[in-house]
Amino acid sequence: MDRYIFLESATSTNDEAKRLGIEGAAAGTIVVAERQTSGRGRMGRVWQSPEGGLWASLIIRPEQRHIEKVTRISLAAGVAVLDTLDEIFSELSIVERAGLGWPNDVLVNFKKVAGILCEAHLAGPSPFVVVGMGINLNNSASALPDELRIISTSVSDLGGKQFSQQAALEKLTRMLDNRIPQVVECAETWISTLETWRERCVLIGREVTISSPGSSPEKAIATGIDSEGRLLVKAHNGEERPVEFEETTLAR
Ligand code: BTN
Repeated sequence: MDRYIFLESATSTNDEAKRLGIEGAAAGTIVVAERQTSGRGRMGRVWQSPEGGLWASLIIRPEQRHIEKVTRISLAAGVAVLDTLDEIFSELSIVERAGLGWPNDVLVNFKKVAGILCEAHLAGPSPFVVVGMGINLNNSASALPDELRIISTSVSDLGGKQFSQQAALEKLTRMLDNRIPQVVECAETWISTLETWRERCVLIGREVTISSPGSSPEKAIATGIDSEGRLLVKAHNGEERPVEFEETTLAR
């Protein structure tokens, strides 16, 4: 099967993947767009998606008996993107190391180089999950609006040269196939995903701000990742708890 669907432009590759998923597209299908006109991030944020970036969405069809473990997919996708960037950085002799920001960021020097937005479509006879991945590849952060420019970077900004989009997509596909969908079926893959998070999550040991709609932001120290993949934080009163759906950012 030709698993790739290449588009010059899409509102969002997640929208296209959802449409194709409803129409019955096979698991493993990957939608790629040169640019997105309404790229989305988490928490309803806009994801700037000009030409030069790698904007892609993968369709996964977990078996019904594994549905309760689909939250693992987002963390596994983070590791797949990290592994992809490790290879690209080594080929471009980029000395900086990428790290993970819980739950779905990939950062270099605390600036975002990639993000992941998983959307589950579990109602209906053939449930599927769309794993949307945005890698700032050859799009420079210097073209972004001020407020985003200071918190973003790209592979070409870091390496001083461009990296083939096709080669990046091939690497990303290989890394995704190594980890997803096995992560919901196979304990070893899940354990190795957790290990990478524990080693490479740049928030651990630092003060973070935890925000959720309707309550005031709280500061705490990130202490680890638990066996469910949740970020563990220690409040200033010494209580440790896992963070589930809230937004966590480095405290400034
Ligand atoms: C985030 O960091 O908040 C997640 C960003 C996810 C962006 C990717 S780009 C491909 C896919 N299509 C979208 O509209 N979003 C994801």
